[in-house]
Amino acid sequence: MSNFRETSADVGQSANREVLVDKDKFLNAKPLTRELLAKAKSSALKKVAQSIDYFADKYPEPAALNGVYQKIGNIEWTSGFWSGQLWLAYQLSGEQQFLDAALAQLSGYKHRIEQKIEVDHHDHGFLYLLSCVAAHKVVGNELGREAAILSADCLYARYIETGKIIQAWGNLNDPAEAGRMIIDCNLNLPILYWATEQTGDAKYREAANNHIRQALKYLIRDNASTFHTYFIDTLTGEGKYGATHQGHADDSCWARGQAWGISGFPFVYRYYPVPALIEQACRVTNYFLNRLPDDLVCYWDLDFTQGDEPRDSSAAAIAVCGMLELTKHMPLLDPDRAVYEAAAKAIMASLIENYSCDSTEQGTGLLKHAVYHKPKNIGVDDYCTWGDYFYMEALVRLEQIWEPYW
Ligand code: GLY
Repeated sequence: MSNFRETSADVGQSANREVLVDKDKFLNAKPLTRELLAKAKSSALKKVAQSIDYFADKYPEPAALNGVYQKIGNIEWTSGFWSGQLWLAYQLSGEQQFLDAALAQLSGYKHRIEQKIEVDHHDHGFLYLLSCVAAHKVVGNELGREAAILSADCLYARYIETGKIIQAWGNLNDPAEAGRMIIDCNLNLPILYWATEQTGDAKYREAANNHIRQALKYLIRDNASTFHTYFIDTLTGEGKYGATHQGHADDSCWARGQAWGISGFPFVYRYYPVPALIEQACRVTNYFLNRLPDDLVCYWDLDFTQGDEPRDSSAAAIAVCGMLELTKHMPLLDPDRAVYEAAAKAIMASLIENYSCDSTEQGTGLLKHAVYHKPKNIGVDDYCTWGDYFYMEALVRLEQIWEPYW
């Protein structure tokens, strides 16, 4: 295993935190009450139960159109977010209907990975952690374990030794995508760590360790904002340049990318406990918190802090889960720990009150006003599957001591 004392300096990063400008905004925010949380939980469970009938053996498209998810087969990078909602609903309620629906999906995941259906990308964590690893963790399901190990193998095959990264997209021979790493991948790495735990083969963990070190080094800018994507020279292993894919501009900070950073670094820290991951997660979190509008739900790109641009509620929900994980790994006396806890609760209160879809409302999702891909005008100001999932995950994290699927 690599050196366990790696700090920010060891990975070529500044450890100076971006100053958190207005801590009182979070510490004095309207509290998230038990009543509000209980109402949100009951409403979310009703909606997920309604969706079991609606989706039956299908899955939601990544994002809804006019408040309604179209139904598709298990072919997108996002199927796991629906499966994950079923597992979370089961853990929140103990109701058999959620367990039955989640278990019924597993053979489809096994088929998908065996037949290599739309799996030539890095999104194996999103797909298989929230479905098959969840099934193994929650009820010891063996089929889930087998499918998830195949998925980890498929992800491991994307590891490029020279660049020490997992390539995000495209065939590995595609020159346009060669050596591209993206911040979203932080959340796919846990399946590699899980595979090492399950098989005893250290290769998965070594690849993940190397990738996250490259992510720390190249995806976080000096000012603690993040690049969405970054190209590594696959011959020399040197960094080349950053570029956006879903953000406003190459030099802007895509809000969901920042949220993948807030969550992904602490999620990986669970398996690779080096201080740099927490130090950098704090910097990235501060940058995010410094750019929130009055209702605490970010715009789709953090270049925007006011005006009519769409919000991305999904980024807010991801950040809530990230901060709740991050605070678990911070020293009790760290002055920002209480601020992050307060910020997570305050953002969640705003999501529940202003962005969630009540079970009495029309619509097949849980969290309104997300953005999938603004530059391409896909899924703008609508539900998205990961927004729904992380909203549920935040409810679970605030309700019980929970062993993450990540
Ligand atoms: N991982 C793709 C996205 O966040 O839209």
